[in-house]
Amino acid sequence: MKIAIASDHGGFQYKEKIIELLQSQNIEYVDFGPPDETSVDYPDYAKPVAKSVVNGECDRGILICGTGIGMSIAANKVPGIRCALVHDVFTAQVTREHNNSNILAMGQRVIGEGLMLLIVQTWLDAEFEGGRHQKRIDKLAALESCNE
Ligand code: RB5
Repeated sequence: MKIAIASDHGGFQYKEKIIELLQSQNIEYVDFGPPDETSVDYPDYAKPVAKSVVNGECDRGILICGTGIGMSIAANKVPGIRCALVHDVFTAQVTREHNNSNILAMGQRVIGEGLMLLIVQTWLDAEFEGGRHQKRIDKLAALESCNE
């Protein structure tokens, strides 16, 4: 599994912690930045992560900002992305099993580091269940071209 990861200035420290976790487990990743805590605009960093997941360069993505909200809104505007904004372990698990989320968004100003890392681990390990959930994923995809 190859992970695309990025943050804005408000999520930079957690991005670095997650990269340490990925390295410790020999999980491949692409760091789309930023390189430090200089103020940046989160859509500029959500975009390359989302694109890399949609085009298959990476399997899944992780985005961190202050709240996770801006990153999740931005990522979900890219067709093919199902970005889940998660701040608890239960939804980290279920959003993989039911929604087949391909990007995880979190807020560095919302939860502590220990919980954040547990959420990342849970989300990385959990698998999509398929079955009855697949037709719902198909309906999500259909919404991307809905003009009604
Ligand atoms: C940056 O100050 C902050 O607005 C951003 O990190 C994020 O929380 C936006 O949703």
